[in-house]
Amino acid sequence: MTKNEIIELLNKDLSLEFAAAIQYIQHAAKITGAEYQSIQKELIIHANEEMGHANVLAEQIAYMGGEPTLDVGDRRTAGDSGEMLKQDLEGERDAVKRYKMRVEQARSIGEFGLARALEDILIMEEEHERDLMAALGL
Ligand SMILES: [Fe+2]
Ligand SMILES: [Fe+2]
Repeated sequence: MTKNEIIELLNKDLSLEFAAAIQYIQHAAKITGAEYQSIQKELIIHANEEMGHANVLAEQIAYMGGEPTLDVGDRRTAGDSGEMLKQDLEGERDAVKRYKMRVEQARSIGEFGLARALEDILIMEEEHERDLMAALGL
């Protein structure tokens, strides 16, 4: 793992944070059903937290001499509230997996400040995952 390789991976993460924020805003607006009222509010909080993650990643990329991306990753939606929450859950599970790897990769090249920042993001993604599982009764 080199610095340039991790910058490239962090830019992929950044594009997926932008995508997650957009997806959450759209899903929160579309979701219906009394049983989803509390998760609807939670999705808006998630959207703002994903933008916070995007901000941290962009700063870290720039600090390491990279160019933070303007790209937005793939977004998903569905006609059914439960289906949208499942899409959100899949996104969070992917994020947890990616950030676990990214923390290790940052440590392996001696970027301990970056590793710490990524750990903070990872903790929040795990919370997002738990929120969605609870809403889906999983
Ligand atoms: Fe995030
Ligand atoms: Fe998240």
